[in-house]
This record gives sequence, structure tokens and C-alpha cells, in this order.
Amino acid sequence: MDKFVIRGGNPLLGTIKVSGAKNSALACMAAAILTEDEVILENVPQVRDIETERRLLSSMGAEVELGYGRAQHRTHIRCAVLSDPVAKYEIVKTMRASSLVLGPLIARTGMARVAMPGGCAIGGRPIDLHIKGLEAMGATITQEHGYLEARAPKNGEARLKGTHIVFDKITVTGTEDLLMAAVLADGETLFENCAREPEVTDLAALLNAMGAKISGAGTSTIRVHGVAKLHGARHRINPDRIEAGTFLIAGAITGGDLNVDACEPNHLGSLLGKLKQAGVRIDIGTDHVRVRSGGNLLAVDISTEEYPGFPTDMQAQFMALATQAEGTSTITENIFENRFMHVQELVRMGANITVAGRTATVRGKTPLQSAAVMCSDLRASASLVLAALVADGETILDRVYHMDRGYERIEEKLRGVGAQIRRMGDVFGKK
Ligand code: EPZ
Repeated sequence: MDKFVIRGGNPLLGTIKVSGAKNSALACMAAAILTEDEVILENVPQVRDIETERRLLSSMGAEVELGYGRAQHRTHIRCAVLSDPVAKYEIVKTMRASSLVLGPLIARTGMARVAMPGGCAIGGRPIDLHIKGLEAMGATITQEHGYLEARAPKNGEARLKGTHIVFDKITVTGTEDLLMAAVLADGETLFENCAREPEVTDLAALLNAMGAKISGAGTSTIRVHGVAKLHGARHRINPDRIEAGTFLIAGAITGGDLNVDACEPNHLGSLLGKLKQAGVRIDIGTDHVRVRSGGNLLAVDISTEEYPGFPTDMQAQFMALATQAEGTSTITENIFENRFMHVQELVRMGANITVAGRTATVRGKTPLQSAAVMCSDLRASASLVLAALVADGETILDRVYHMDRGYERIEEKLRGVGAQIRRMGDVFGKK
């Protein structure tokens, strides 16, 4: 298993570049199922989850070409024939986002067989709202041997039917999955209480470029006029706002002067507000944000919410920052019921954190010491990297394959701005 070895103490200086958004790219790759034409995606991050999505689509009969060299962030996908429209457990078990193919498969082929995602480190994460929405569009869905068997209504065209859906809870991939089902449905679908995340807006932009009729993406009410057929398109994936946020905190926590480039500042509002409260100097450009901090950070409370609130995917990273802030910060996790796996690892490094229910109380500033720590999920790993960048000594991070799922060659990017970090073990090799 790959490990990171990080020696703390260096302020990060210079410019670091953000890749395309993993969570946008995953949804946009699934959208290619909706047409037999070629879909070309630009700015696709080279991370493990994208590789898993490529395997998933190829296993169903799609031609997927991940670019390399100068075109390494371009992906060509053609789902001319979906010979085996099944999302197999071997692939789904490694990535929950595989459930994003459910809606597009039913919409395109009239049927789908998708392995149910199992448990996840950060919470139960059921997909009941995906199923409920598809059933409201007329699909029949049964569960057999760990698989969802879904069929469109047996009307002549085996087409889903437009309808009115109010989400019981705001769900990002639920909104995306049902959006992709509705674009080829018969009639109009009105969605309410939708997720407003930039990833949803990005997917809707691609679908409209493919000939869909979607309005209201980015708001909590989305209207879709179903069409009979979609065509191919070329689309550039949004910058990754969570990777950008992680780098902003890296600059602040190390007392550095860091320019986070190729990002979308408009997607970072809640985080930038909290960093300013913490006393970090922020300069915002059109596609970059510069952070400067002398390392004198103030305690700030955060509470995770759906977009545009403070993102749950930045909670762990902000907790690392809070360990270096003067005073007491409270951090409340409202989205996932088990997203404090990083707390005990940070405490092993000397942090003073207590947890009661969904709230963690962080008392700072506490000097951190190097230690051997274990990554448990993608964003928890990022918080341990941030803590190691300011810890005294050399920290060993185990199981960094969690990090490779969503951060493209992070050790190279951080080394480029002065971090002392190296990977032990072969890149993308066996676990
Ligand atoms: C997306 O997950 C992201 N993943 C997650 O990012 C992110 O943490 C999450 O949205 C919240 O922002 C992708 O886009 C691939 P949800 P998703 O459905 O869609 C409950 C990362 O680090 N719920 O919005 O799975 C659910 O349990 C990952 O990149 C139901 O109860 O999250 C949770 O409590 C981690 N039933 C809440 O809703 C459902 O059918 C929000 O989950 C669906 C969701």
C-alpha cells in the first residue's frame, strides 16, 4: 500500500493548479450513456474514481478513451451499443457513485441492473430517493441478490414518464440521477427541493449541450421537458472546488503565501467567508484565489450544509486548520452521520478534540507532532496531510489510496510549492 511521508514546517509559497472536479466528471461520464454519439469531456481529473468509472462504462460495452500526454485530461466516450447494461458489484463496491448509471440506463435502454452500493465509512448513504423518483416516473424496481433490477413501463416505447418530484431530502447524486432519467422521459418533469451544487449545474450544461431541455439547474426547482433522442457533445468540466478548498487551507495552515489557480472562486463563497473570519488574508481573482496568513489563526465555528452552505467535503480539512487556531471552534456535521473518522488520528498527532454526537469541539492552538496515521476516507486523508504539513517531524500516512480516489498527484502539486512530501510505494500500483 502506498504511503506518504511528510516532514512538517514549511510555509507553502507560489502557485498551485486545481484539476477538474471529480464529482462533476463522474456524473458527466454517466450522462454519455444517454446517447449513441460520442461525448468528449475536457478537464477530467486523472484520479482513481475516474478510472473506476471508465471500467464501469467499458464493462457495459461503451468505448471509453482516457487521454494521455497533452490530451491527458480529455476523455472520449461512445455508448453506441450497451451490450451488457449491468453495473457489476466488483466495480460498484469500490465506488458508490456507480449508482449514477441507474437513471441513464433505464432512460436509454428501458432497463438496468445495478449492484446496490454497500456501507460507507462516512455513513449509511442509502439510495432510496433515487429509487423513489424512478418509480414515480413509472419504473418498476425490484431487489434481487444484491442487485436492483429496474424496468421502464411496458408502454410501446418503454419510456419513463414525466412527473412531479419533491425530494424528501436534498441529495446531489439523487438530483443528478433523476435528471438524467427525465431528459428522455415522455413529457415534463418538475423537480423540487433539488441539490444546488455546482456539479448539478455542470451536468445540466452538458445535457443541454446534448439536446436536453433543462431549466433551473443550480436552483432548488428544476424543470425538464423530455426529448426523444440526445446527440453527442463536447464539454469542459468545472474546476474541483473541494481540491481548491483543500489547497486554500494548506496555504493558511502553513502560514504561507499561496495562489490557488484554475479554480472558480464563485463556488468557494462559504469557505472563503470562514477563512476571512479566521484572520486569513484572501485576494480573489477571476480564476484564482491567493491566501496569506502569518500562521496566526482565530477559532471559527462551522456547520456543514448543502450548497451554498459550508460543504461537508471541507469539514475534515477545516478541522485540521482549527487545531492551529487560537481558541475553541465547534464543528457540526449535518450531512453524514459518521464523518469524524479523522478525529482520533488528529488526536494521535496531539490535537485537542472532543466529539459529542454530530459536534466536534476543537481547542487550539495545539502544536502537532509527527506520528504514523491511517487514512479512512477521501477527505479525512486530506485533513491528515494538512496536519502533517505543520507537525513537528516526519509523519507517515498509510492507505493513501483513499486520497488517490479524488486528488490528482497531490504530492507532486504540494512539493511544487515547497512541501516536503513523498510517496512510498508505486503510483496507482496494487493496494
Ligand atoms: C455527493 O454524494 C458527493 N459525491 C459527496 O462527495 C458529497 O459528500 C455529498 O454529495 C454531499 O455534498 C458525489 O458527487 C459522487 P447526497 P451523495 O445524496 O450524492 C442522504 C467526496 O468526498 N440520502 O447528497 O451520495 C445521505 O445519506 C464525496 O467527494 C438519503 O437518505 O450525497 C446523506 O445523509 C463524499 N437517501 C444526505 O442524503 C438517498 O437516496 C446527502 O447525501 C440519497 C441520499
